Amino acid sequence: MPNVQRNIAVSDITDKKNKQPIVMITAYDALFARLFDDYADIILVGDSLNMSFNAQKDTLNLSVEAMKYHVKAVRAGLKRALLVADMPFGSYFNENSALKNAAKFIKAGADVVKLEGGERIAPLIARLTAEGIAVMGHVGLRPQQVRFEGGYKIKGRGEDAENLIQDALAIEQAGAFSAVIEGTISSVAAKIARSVQMPIIGIGAGAEVDGQVLVWSDMLGFFEEFRPKFAKRYLEGANLVRKAVQAYANEVKMRKFPSAEFEYEE
Ligand code: KIV
Repeated sequence: MPNVQRNIAVSDITDKKNKQPIVMITAYDALFARLFDDYADIILVGDSLNMSFNAQKDTLNLSVEAMKYHVKAVRAGLKRALLVADMPFGSYFNENSALKNAAKFIKAGADVVKLEGGERIAPLIARLTAEGIAVMGHVGLRPQQVRFEGGYKIKGRGEDAENLIQDALAIEQAGAFSAVIEGTISSVAAKIARSVQMPIIGIGAGAEVDGQVLVWSDMLGFFEEFRPKFAKRYLEGANLVRKAVQAYANEVKMRKFPSAEFEYEE
């Protein structure tokens, strides 16, 4: 019998709650998805790609078509991890658009869609899950609110903490199987993780949650425009690439490349 590796399913992720931390990382193309696949439980095609990959100032003008393109590319690179597609800003303003666009991402190869929001979008989550589309929520700091809120504001301070707990409970009740919590006071994120059955995956939300997600271009040091406090760098990618390309350029200019070993002979 051939050695067929089983894909990670939504139930594998929910089963990890209180047992094993969940590892999630973004990817935007097949090349990097393939590199991350052995180590991550979940690969997220995050709308953060609009900033790090497309050099836009925020995530808001990412189109459904662009997201579909990246989902297809990442799907082609994956054998194992669960693939989550972010629903771009404006693609789930009402039930019809949410259903139509979520179906596009599933057809493009996503296993799950992710929506930003709390109590207000609970009816959308209920409708998507009723149609057989698994949903991951996203609460706390929601980057799609950046222009409305006038910046990226840390969540969970003061009375806001109770609203966040209500948001998490509402989306869980609506059918979300898991949620990302971003940019939130650690103690509040921990309380949310304890208050719900679904796994809570943190980014800038401390250690006492059920898993962690990082944006690949932050953690590998390729995105240099700004560096969030939580984004630990595991590699200085941009510096390494610069050095390598500089070496190549110098060798071309000095006619050192290609040397004989890189030439075809008769
Ligand atoms: O778009 C993204 O990469 C995300 C992560 C910050 C979780 O939503």
